[in-house]
Amino acid sequence: MAMASLQLNNAIAKPLFMGMRPSFSYKKNSVGRIRCAATTPSKRYTITLLPGDGIGPEVISVATNVLKLAASLEGIEFDFQEMLVGGAALDSTGLPLPAETLSAAKQSDAVLLGAIGGYKWDKNEKHLKPETGLLQLRAGLQVFANLRPATVFPQLVDASTLKKEVAEEVDLMVVRELTGGIYFGKPRGFSVNENGQEIGFNTEVYATHEIDRIARVAFETARKRRGKLCSVDKANVLEASIFWRKRVMAIASEYPDVELSHMYVDNAAMQLVRDPKQFDTIVTNNIFGDILSDEASMITGSIGMLPSASLGESGPGLFEPIHGSAPDIAGQDKANPLATVLSAAMLLKYGLGEENAAKRIEAAVLDTLSRGYRTGDIYSSGNKLVGCKEMGEEVLKSVDSQVPAPV
Ligand code: IPM
Ligand code: MG
Repeated sequence: MAMASLQLNNAIAKPLFMGMRPSFSYKKNSVGRIRCAATTPSKRYTITLLPGDGIGPEVISVATNVLKLAASLEGIEFDFQEMLVGGAALDSTGLPLPAETLSAAKQSDAVLLGAIGGYKWDKNEKHLKPETGLLQLRAGLQVFANLRPATVFPQLVDASTLKKEVAEEVDLMVVRELTGGIYFGKPRGFSVNENGQEIGFNTEVYATHEIDRIARVAFETARKRRGKLCSVDKANVLEASIFWRKRVMAIASEYPDVELSHMYVDNAAMQLVRDPKQFDTIVTNNIFGDILSDEASMITGSIGMLPSASLGESGPGLFEPIHGSAPDIAGQDKANPLATVLSAAMLLKYGLGEENAAKRIEAAVLDTLSRGYRTGDIYSSGNKLVGCKEMGEEVLKSVDSQVPAPV
């Protein structure tokens, strides 16, 4: 089993298996390039694959192949177990998160998810919606810290809808609280008010330990980046936000080296499109993080580029692209698999501590973009328009052509 996904007092992004690197031998492959072949001992991890719905299966298939190849070059092998979640699970078991899926996920070293949801299940009752399965999975794995990086790759600066000078060099990380707040708060439900009107209601609520632990993850993250943390709330209106700000300020005393600022969410939404380069790390609650991370993704050119990692204090992490199931293009080989491929890199880095294998994937994605391959969502003239599968094949070529870094 992998170690804890998140080591708060250790570096989040540090390899967890230092000193356990496999030894390598180098040999020429058939085309004469230097390849490395891992010898003993090889590391083995169990990964639960949750393709889900819509474009999920297409992007998971690409990401799994990339994960396998990049990891094999570092002497890592996987046992994959594919399980049902979301609409796919509803259709065959009647539940959006069958018990077997959660238990397989809990017993594995990391979980890679595609996407969930689709028109077919939109009218289902709440407890039978695919989205409910995803929320149950996050809660079941207790992955409270959701890291959503938004990085503008130089190759894609033209794909952004923002002006080049605004978008270029943006590199920010949204740390979203994932298992609390209004998504899970009680009381919630439907009722009738004193005027006999039907109502729907939810509760935004955060307890001390929930804010403290996500704040620590955010401070640790900022510390390893450019040392700036912006906490986003609505403390001019909401009690839950006033309390959020109070706890973030209390935790700040543990991190005197990190520069902390606070911003109201409406202003943050505006600043993200006005001057996104002012942000390094953003920490925010579940619902603001949901919204701001979609907004941040568009700075990078496409939501099809953004990966995410969801981590808990221990146990396997959950890795998923931030885009949805895109039912309008499902099954047409049009999806951009790069967000899922980059999620597989996050799985290696944050979930397994296999930073070298993660770097192989990140470098391969950049190389593929540099060679001009683009899916429709990031296409600009002069580039080569490809489908999901072909993009995957090109990324594999880029992984394959990398000369291994000396050990
Ligand atoms: C996300 C999604 C989910 C969320 C939905 C599908 C439940 O929008 O991961 O951002 O709201 O968290
Ligand atoms: Mg969302």
